[in-house]
Amino acid sequence: MPPQGNQFGVFTLDATLTAMIQLLTVGLLLEVCMTQQPEWEPKLLGFLCRWCSYAGADLAGTSRKKYPANIRIIKVPCSGRVDSLFIIKALRLGFDGVLVSGCHPGDCHYLTGNYRARRRIAITKKFLEYLGVEPQRVQASWVSASEGGKFAEVVAEVTEGLKEVGPNRMFSKES
Ligand code: FES
Repeated sequence: MPPQGNQFGVFTLDATLTAMIQLLTVGLLLEVCMTQQPEWEPKLLGFLCRWCSYAGADLAGTSRKKYPANIRIIKVPCSGRVDSLFIIKALRLGFDGVLVSGCHPGDCHYLTGNYRARRRIAITKKFLEYLGVEPQRVQASWVSASEGGKFAEVVAEVTEGLKEVGPNRMFSKES
């Protein structure tokens, strides 16, 4: 409210003070808005086996388990289908991390797909390290169709880990 004068056109001390405080408050708020940067959030790509982890993610959703919205999901027939090139391509496209998730060891519908995935991920991590990319950007987990809660925990854990590692600059255009 602008300061009001009394009937003699003289501003009262109260009205002037109120107007000044309002101006100061608005100024401070504007300054905070101008200096606040949106907080960086990691982008995570999840390759989920359709038989176990994808169903686990579904269960997490239907059970209303909360997990970070940082993950984008690609359904794959088996974790063994995830080629190292898929992972590298995801990082090249700007994802900060990749999660490969499949059936528990011994439960793979194709018998050895998840064992292959485990070996491939270990090799991919070594290769990324060689390239100077933090190997923590690639994670594997085994989540069954009945483990909605575990899926939510895994996504939260991997997202937190990526926040510690920071943005993926290795493949960014600025680097
Ligand atoms: S079918 Fe799920 S990991 Fe192979």
